[in-house]
Amino acid sequence: PLVSLNQILDHAAEHGYGVPAFNVNNLEQVQAILQAADATRSPVILQASAGARKYAGELFLRQMIQGAVASYPHLPIVMHQDHGTSPAVCMSAISNGFSSVMMDGSLMSDGKTPASYEYNLEVTREVVKMAHSFGVSVEGELGCLGRLDTGMGEEEDGVGANRALTHAEMLTDPWQAKEFVLATGVDALAIAIGTSHGAYKFSSPPTGSVLDIDRIKEIHDVIPNTHLVMHGSSSVPQDLLQQVRDFGGELKPTWGVPIEEIQRAIRWGVRKINIDTDLRLAMTGAIRRHLIENPADFDPRQYLKPAIAAMAAVCHARYIDFGAAGQA
Ligand code: G3H
Ligand code: 13P
Ligand code: ZN
Repeated sequence: PLVSLNQILDHAAEHGYGVPAFNVNNLEQVQAILQAADATRSPVILQASAGARKYAGELFLRQMIQGAVASYPHLPIVMHQDHGTSPAVCMSAISNGFSSVMMDGSLMSDGKTPASYEYNLEVTREVVKMAHSFGVSVEGELGCLGRLDTGMGEEEDGVGANRALTHAEMLTDPWQAKEFVLATGVDALAIAIGTSHGAYKFSSPPTGSVLDIDRIKEIHDVIPNTHLVMHGSSSVPQDLLQQVRDFGGELKPTWGVPIEEIQRAIRWGVRKINIDTDLRLAMTGAIRRHLIENPADFDPRQYLKPAIAAMAAVCHARYIDFGAAGQA
């Protein structure tokens, strides 16, 4: 059934596991996730960004996810709006049947300009008030993640548009997080602890810890009942990059967040782990490979089928690695 984010994350907190939240834009991605969730008996968080709504249309997304809910009635499924840029966007998602919304007030409504703390508090509080009256959960964000991929090229160091801030200044402050949660009533909080969006997270292989695990512990200590969310959590597996390159793709050297780091973060209170880039890499590699190896094929189903399988394999691995497998 369609459930709220709290229903899934409360269970995850109680049993100490993490739930991957996968971005969806089309039918094939929804199918890949549900195949993997069904095979592993995992709770499902499907999330749609502003870009997804622009690409597919809110109504199509809604109907597609409702198709998933009807096809897999035994699995709990959250339909979450990723990075809502304003209360109006969140309201529109709620009226279109989303069971959870993110109000990302860390940025202004252009989705790019860093916002003041006061602005963030104000818009998030407004969304919580509205969403809770419909039984819809709300994720807020505090701190500066690397900027969102605007399609204009991604940043290598996760500092991006906020280059003026030092790394330490970008991280979420635990006491401010406590104040923010108390003042807004959010159910889940996205925190900045060293991740950034997109494929180009780290320009050399990670040595030691890439996440600020101590910071996660500190935040979890002061707001133990708020579900922590980690954006930018793709691991950017080298074999997925290599497959894209082997079949004509051009990708610069890059590294993501190691799975073991995510597992440590889960041990200290991270419950929702956002993943998009790894899925894009898996699908693109499979499609490139199929078309090169089968130059006579022209039925989209011929190359979308291996793309679904490649994406499902990544989802399958994440469900197991984060401990969500067997929990639905
Ligand atoms: O948070 C960003 C997600 O990867 C979605 O990306 O805005 O290109 O759909 P998008
Ligand atoms: P990645 O780019 O690391 O997959 O992060 C996706 C994300 O955070 C969506 O909100
Ligand atoms: Zn994100």
